[in-house]
Amino acid sequence: MARKKVDSSVEKAAVNKAADSSVEKKAELSATIAPSEIKIEPAAEKKAKSAEKKPAAKKKAATADKKAEPVVEKTPAPAKKEAEVVVEKKPAPAEKKAEVVVEKKPAPAKKKSDTVAEKKPAPAKRKSAPAEKKPAPVKKKAETSEKKLKPVVEAATAVEAAPVVEAAPVVEAAPVVEAAPVVEAAPVVEAAPVVDEVSPVVEEAAPVFDLSTLPRRSVAFIGSECHPFVKTGGLGDVMYALPRELVKLNCDVRVILPRYACIPQQYQDKMVYRGEFYMDLGSTGRNYYVGIMEYVSDGVVYDFIDNQEFFTSGNPYTNLVDDIPKYCFFSKAALAALNFMNWIPDIIHCHDWQAGLVPVYLRTLFKDTPVGRARSILTIHNLRFQGIFNIPTIKYWSGLPDSVFNMGALQQDYVNANMLKGGLAYADRITTVSGTYAWEIQTPEYGERLEDHLRYHSGKLRGIVNGIDYDMWNPETDPALAENYGLGNVLEHKMANKLALQRELGLEEDESKFVIGLISRLTNQKGLDLVSSIIPQVLDGNTQVVVLGTGDAQYEDTFRYYEGAYKGTFSACIQYDEGRAHRIYAGSDALLVPSRFEPCGLTQLNAMHYGTLPIVRETGGLKDTVQPYNDFTGEGNGFTFDRYDAGLLLDAINRAKTVYFTNRYHWDEVVQRDMAKDVSWANSARQYKDLYLELTQW
Ligand code: ADP
Ligand code: GLC
Repeated sequence: MARKKVDSSVEKAAVNKAADSSVEKKAELSATIAPSEIKIEPAAEKKAKSAEKKPAAKKKAATADKKAEPVVEKTPAPAKKEAEVVVEKKPAPAEKKAEVVVEKKPAPAKKKSDTVAEKKPAPAKRKSAPAEKKPAPVKKKAETSEKKLKPVVEAATAVEAAPVVEAAPVVEAAPVVEAAPVVEAAPVVEAAPVVDEVSPVVEEAAPVFDLSTLPRRSVAFIGSECHPFVKTGGLGDVMYALPRELVKLNCDVRVILPRYACIPQQYQDKMVYRGEFYMDLGSTGRNYYVGIMEYVSDGVVYDFIDNQEFFTSGNPYTNLVDDIPKYCFFSKAALAALNFMNWIPDIIHCHDWQAGLVPVYLRTLFKDTPVGRARSILTIHNLRFQGIFNIPTIKYWSGLPDSVFNMGALQQDYVNANMLKGGLAYADRITTVSGTYAWEIQTPEYGERLEDHLRYHSGKLRGIVNGIDYDMWNPETDPALAENYGLGNVLEHKMANKLALQRELGLEEDESKFVIGLISRLTNQKGLDLVSSIIPQVLDGNTQVVVLGTGDAQYEDTFRYYEGAYKGTFSACIQYDEGRAHRIYAGSDALLVPSRFEPCGLTQLNAMHYGTLPIVRETGGLKDTVQPYNDFTGEGNGFTFDRYDAGLLLDAINRAKTVYFTNRYHWDEVVQRDMAKDVSWANSARQYKDLYLELTQW
């Protein structure tokens, strides 16, 4: 992924709080929070702890750890011993600690948008200001949420009641493959009940959802990014929007995320200390601090796993050498935190490879702990990223038993282990973000070498297409736009947004030009080689192109070149800028998504909702969400092409232009049809809820 490494702020050592606990006390407190396979001798433990006391020493130890991996692996792995639990809970006055933790926080690393924005040539930046000044009703959800913060509850005692785990859990050599699930068995969840119309008496606003009619389920989302805290792509959007929609369907949702240093200070400040404990990790022989910081918004509880040793980078993803340990720690700590908080969900819903080990931990090290009774779902947002590294390293950091390193689960080949592959084997259900992608990933073309594995598990695989959050994406209230508009007046007001966009980007201000937008990570996935090879043909004097994105240097440079070569006609915004993205969705006539593969894709949904017609390749979620325009019937939502071929992309663009320039009446019809199309989360969230119910039938 186009995940740029941004220099982190000065690393600070993790908050060290439990070093003074006596061994006896620890034994007493030993619980099932995070069972380990590796017995840690008291002496070694003490040593580890004393190292943690000194920030400098700790940092050094961390570095050494990484370098020592291969060596550690060569020494015979400690045979299975009693699973001594090394987690230690330290009850503490919550309020005080919250202050301490927040104060200790290093100045947040630069927001990504800020950082990349610096690369943008000056004129475009200067012009962005006026549009942002547009007054508009803004929903300040984040603020109101503070009021809902639950009191900090120390759940430690309840956790302690759980029995201490004995020997390392026995793991089945090969994961159990379930028969094809009874898909239709789930109870039908009804749509939100209509407001009672029988009584003419008008009282206070009737609730839109009568939650009591829906079965209640609790769900823990575990993933590596979530808007508005940290987002590099669509995963962040889904982690934000889906939980909020599930709350409306009577789900009790907690989202567990890493507490990255790059989370904006405004959110860091609102987090409340929820507790802390220490947890061992793999063969490191160390105890790691796990803090839990909590933030509640719109009925969703966000629990941030705090450990500044792992999460200090200015960007969630850096390189696999750092990311493998980071997400081993995160996956284990997330489950341990659920035990610690004594909040045992019905469902654990994991996302992408960064949480891929969660289903494996759940059925091995955590099998006999309270959280072990939860069912798990693993959602694939992008199969290209799998968390592959050599077996010794993943064994070292994960501490998972040898038995899961087989070809049916984590093992990839003779050399490597694959964290996503393991998760897919152990999850109770697998989902991906569109029906077409669910099918595609079982073929060699899209399977990223996991097609056989996925076919083997196809009985528990299903596709549920993403939606978009209608509060976040609403042209009627969007504060970023030059002029707000809705379905009823789009034809009058969209032009104003086009002109404002042209002004903002230094393009020739001419409402008769056909403006094509492209908002994307600039990576190989997104079909940018096709785009760059046809730009000269696309720019025919009546067309303008606007690109917004960051990523691989080759694409960034190509688009910068075009901006220079086609001044006033081509704009390359090599930056990450949410506000500008909204203005491009509103101000363009069409939006390009010519991806090589696209699990779902959200930009085409945003575009349609803003009355901008998508031009897409028929793959994955693009195929499922954009019906091709039919010249004869006038039906459809956008323009499509099938084979990955620049000529076909050019043809699709030309077809769009033809309708735009010669048949505006029909074009405008499609604009309105797209705005009216339901691309919300409502329908898809219901499918997830059905899946949860299917897994928890009682
Ligand atoms: P992916 O997750 O593969 O990157 P999606 O289409 O699912 O693709 O989601 C991309 C999300 O990121 C959309 O919400 C899009 O608006 C946003 N986005 C992508 N690039 C930028 C950018 N440079 N600036 C602002 N938003 C961006
Ligand atoms: C991934 C995919 C994208 C999808 C998003 C959210 O990043 O590339 O197609 O929309 O995840 O599921």
